[in-house]
Amino acid sequence: MKYIVANFKLNGNTQFFKSYFKEIKKYVKKPTNMMFAMPNCYLHLSKGLSNFIVGAQNISHKSSGACTGEISAEMARDLGAQFCLVGHSECRKRGETDNQIEQKLKLAKQNGLTSILCIGEALDEKPVFRQVLKRQLQVLENVGIDNIIIAYEPVWAIGTNKTATTRDIKSVHGFIKKFVLEKYGKDVPVLYGGSVNAINSRDILGLDVVDGVLVGGASLNALNFSSIYKSQL
Ligand code: PGA
Repeated sequence: MKYIVANFKLNGNTQFFKSYFKEIKKYVKKPTNMMFAMPNCYLHLSKGLSNFIVGAQNISHKSSGACTGEISAEMARDLGAQFCLVGHSECRKRGETDNQIEQKLKLAKQNGLTSILCIGEALDEKPVFRQVLKRQLQVLENVGIDNIIIAYEPVWAIGTNKTATTRDIKSVHGFIKKFVLEKYGKDVPVLYGGSVNAINSRDILGLDVVDGVLVGGASLNALNFSSIYKSQL
């Protein structure tokens, strides 16, 4: 089964998540690899939700100390997270550095969290996307690729309804997989993210080189997200 990951971003509240999970359970009885990147303050709501895998959208690059407003990998784990997104372009835009991303990957690993490392080129970087992706993958050098999932999310495709074509996805995922295999001698799962919805998901998930999808906007509706999950079947 492929990885079908929801990224709720800065959305929802207690009532929303309670009814969301209730609804999704009606549509998908026993999900496999269905994952939800929760707002940190609602991670605890997932306790007791067997079969659903929940995670954090971000963690601190520090394990503890003077980092007001942050949540550590250990805290996320304590609240029930099994994975975390790392390096999402919205965090990079707010100033997250490659060095911090590397620290986050290390802390996630130490605390038993799978990391979904998000990489992707901006619109003006399209002509040199290979260099951009290679640079973003550099953070794995000192971390390795155990417990790592990569999400290719072209920045220009996020929240814009401008999904990359299946042709482009095939070629970029092929490039990422080959690069990682040559460097680390192991295959790594690569997800696609960027305006995935219940209409385009079947074609995207139908590609061999796509191991799953990371879904923002369309994940906020339980029926849509279930349809995306089912479109791989
Ligand atoms: P989107 O977001 O599906 O709304 O484009 C994807 C993401 O940011 O992970």
